[in-house]
Amino acid sequence: MGEEIKKGLMGVTVDETSISKVMPEINSLTYRGYAAQDLCAKCKFEEVAYLILNGDLPNSKELKKFEKEERKERKLSKSLISIIKQMPKKSHPMDVARTAVSVMGLEDKETTDNSPKANLRKSMRIFSKTPVALAAFYRLRKGKKIISPKKKLSFAENFFHMCFGKVPNKDIVKAFDVSLILYAEHSFNVSTFTARTITSSLSDIHGAITGAIASLKGPLHGGANEEVMHMMNKIKKPENALNWINNALNKKAVVMGFGHRVYKSGDSRVPTMREYFGKVAKITKDKKFEKIYDIVEKVMIDKKNIHPNVDYPTGPTYHLMGFDTDFFTPIFVISRITGWSAHIIEQHSTNKLIRPLAAYNGSQHRQVQSLKDR
Ligand code: CMC
Repeated sequence: MGEEIKKGLMGVTVDETSISKVMPEINSLTYRGYAAQDLCAKCKFEEVAYLILNGDLPNSKELKKFEKEERKERKLSKSLISIIKQMPKKSHPMDVARTAVSVMGLEDKETTDNSPKANLRKSMRIFSKTPVALAAFYRLRKGKKIISPKKKLSFAENFFHMCFGKVPNKDIVKAFDVSLILYAEHSFNVSTFTARTITSSLSDIHGAITGAIASLKGPLHGGANEEVMHMMNKIKKPENALNWINNALNKKAVVMGFGHRVYKSGDSRVPTMREYFGKVAKITKDKKFEKIYDIVEKVMIDKKNIHPNVDYPTGPTYHLMGFDTDFFTPIFVISRITGWSAHIIEQHSTNKLIRPLAAYNGSQHRQVQSLKDR
């Protein structure tokens, strides 16, 4: 009898973590014990980033210091700006983010120092600079001038400012902030596990985050928020939604933005993000996508009992905010850098090389024939 194979590591507990947990008793994703929706209601993203990285919510003094540090680190090196300028305009921004973090690793003086303190400092630099690099590419590929970050703006406000040259109304900024909070951390998902696997060979944080970005890009993970928008654009108008989703299900298609490895009866982040999607739709006076959203969701639940995940409401929300579709997953990146960094630091503190086994199903032993005899 062969070894038992747990394909996709489904249901396998591979390590411990103190960073986040889906708590069934409160039906919620929690960061360091706090429910994500509670954090959305009472905190701004920077407080949650601090919580994830440092283990507890900051007091006013700690938050001020954290924000000062984040704002100070926003500047990119001349060489990174010049590399971004040379990138093909058609590059996917996820590849831009991946390359930018990799270049940051070449430039960082502490790249090879894996101590917790150095990793925290490096994570702050990656956290501050990645949005700046992405916004620079956002502008350059449209033939526009790069907009420098502004120290007086919050993390969310500054991202709007660097992409669009203006900060939208405070309710839109709040919706964006909420999406960042909801995207910040989710235990051993594939990108985080990738980061932890890279770390487990005692490699460095820039490499681990570079790998995590590549992993997040895939449509079964973070890339789903872009796919949701492609789907909504294909549906075009609410009158088409019912036919479209019924056809898709008849063809046994995978519907993006639905299903989850952990949540089987609904992603606890969705109600909060759905509420903010509604607010943004109201402000932008564009209800079309909300209507499509509701029709597709109802059919998926009624016919398949498959619920939406957080990528389903974030996709159209980012669209209504004015972002290009291929920037949706990069927005996920700028938030998840916090979760990845915390996991990388945790992995270093209790490291065991990640090296599973495989059940071999290839040829039995055979003799090598010399080239002339083959
Ligand atoms: N559309 C249609 N059928 C689905 C979907 C879906 N979105 N999700 C799951 N199913 C079906 C699947 O076909 C399978 O059916 P059967 O048992 O008849 O073969 C059953 O449900 C179980 O699905 P699974 O793919 O074995 O479950 P999994 O835990 O391996 O996959 C998933 C989880 C997220 C990869 C999957 O639900 C999926 O492909 N969803 C679409 C992509 C997506 O939205 N990804 C975002 C994930 S959450 C946030 C994030 O990470 O960014």
